[in-house]
Amino acid sequence: MGSYVYDTNGKKYLDSLAGLWCTSLGGSEPRLVDAAAKQLSILPFYHSFWNRTTKPSLDLAAELLEMFTATKMAKVFFTNSGSEANDTQVKLVWYYNNALGRPSKKKFIARQRSYHGCTLVAASRSGLPALHQNFDLPSSFVLHTDCPHYWRYHLPGETEEDFSTRLANNLEELILKEGPETVAAFIAEPVMGAGGIIPPPATYFEKIQAVVKKHDILFIADEVICGFGRLGTMFGCDKYNIKPDLVSIAKGLSSAYMPIGAVLASREVSDVIYSQSNKLGTFSHGFTYSGHPVSCAVALETLKIYKERNIIDIVKSLSPKLQDGIKAFSNSPIIGEIRGTGFLVATEFADNNSLNDPFPPEWGVGAYFVAQCEKLGMLVRVTGENLVMCPPLIITPDEIDELISKYGKALKATEERVKELKDQKKKLLISFSEKRMR
Ligand SMILES: Cc1ncc(COP(=O)(O)O)c(C=O)c1O
Repeated sequence: MGSYVYDTNGKKYLDSLAGLWCTSLGGSEPRLVDAAAKQLSILPFYHSFWNRTTKPSLDLAAELLEMFTATKMAKVFFTNSGSEANDTQVKLVWYYNNALGRPSKKKFIARQRSYHGCTLVAASRSGLPALHQNFDLPSSFVLHTDCPHYWRYHLPGETEEDFSTRLANNLEELILKEGPETVAAFIAEPVMGAGGIIPPPATYFEKIQAVVKKHDILFIADEVICGFGRLGTMFGCDKYNIKPDLVSIAKGLSSAYMPIGAVLASREVSDVIYSQSNKLGTFSHGFTYSGHPVSCAVALETLKIYKERNIIDIVKSLSPKLQDGIKAFSNSPIIGEIRGTGFLVATEFADNNSLNDPFPPEWGVGAYFVAQCEKLGMLVRVTGENLVMCPPLIITPDEIDELISKYGKALKATEERVKELKDQKKKLLISFSEKRMR
């Protein structure tokens, strides 16, 4: 219901992760239920192959092309998920470069700690070791460049701007080493999500885009989390002045009430693909459920609600309350950094506020915090040493107060737990050294 979910025993939880970064309108929006039921009664399914499709998919494509303004986009291709959108990007980019007579321009550059999904190629481009280990990934055409996490990776005395310059130089070095004629595209989330909510450092995208453009490399913006108001702008590209050639969207597109994702392609890219497929007679890519009419009808209603309720203004006006409320705990001795923007906020646990003092993984500090939150009636998520929160966009000011209060209580309990563990460790060390003295 709204910002809350209930377990099978009826216990109520504030859902601080909006499902999985997706139920932007919360869990009980009747208009989305009605939109689905209405479409099911009109036309539950028709496919989008061979120049056929349905009215909801045409209307949704038109709406998306109007909404996305960072670059003028020309075409929309519907998928069932963000991963499928990111896999589709690879096929589009390869097809595009083959059409241009550049058969060796095929490599992709992604970033360490990025997340782009779990299908073969999306997982390859993700920069999280767990997605690669034992899966024989990443594929050989995928390269990874630096993660733009200033707090963790900046050199002593390096400003955010200097850090961004160094990362852009490293990216250029990698491109030159591989050969620009072999590098097809660069993919980035405007704010990294599952890798631990990492907003870009100052001037980062400006400098990265200059490098990418210089070497005729396409820029893919993965807006699966950032799109549709999450950062207080309609898209992450609007916030960071990113001018992408291709965009992936999903999640907030339908507020997760139905599975749907999409790729948006610029005129330049789609014209090349279009003329090539005309020559070949067909563009052989698609899924049975691409542009599913029920998903599209729900997405159309979702976008209508975002506009009617001025969801961007709501996020803009309430995000300082959320950000400042959580950042007020920055001095806790078990927190290294609290960072975020819009309705995304992460807490990185570290001993003594120090970058170089992670807690021993066997202490399970993050998991303990999660368990405390659950006891208090709040769902949060830990990825690695980061606690991530991404509340529904309809969260009210009172619910934000509740979120901050529960966070504070869970933090206090976790601080006490850490103190206990440290005392135990001290005692063990003392008895160990006493034994050695004997
Ligand atoms: C930035 C980003 N891209 C892609 C995906 C994959 O989307 P899906 O889980 O719908 O395949 C996710 C999922 O969390 C994501 O956060």
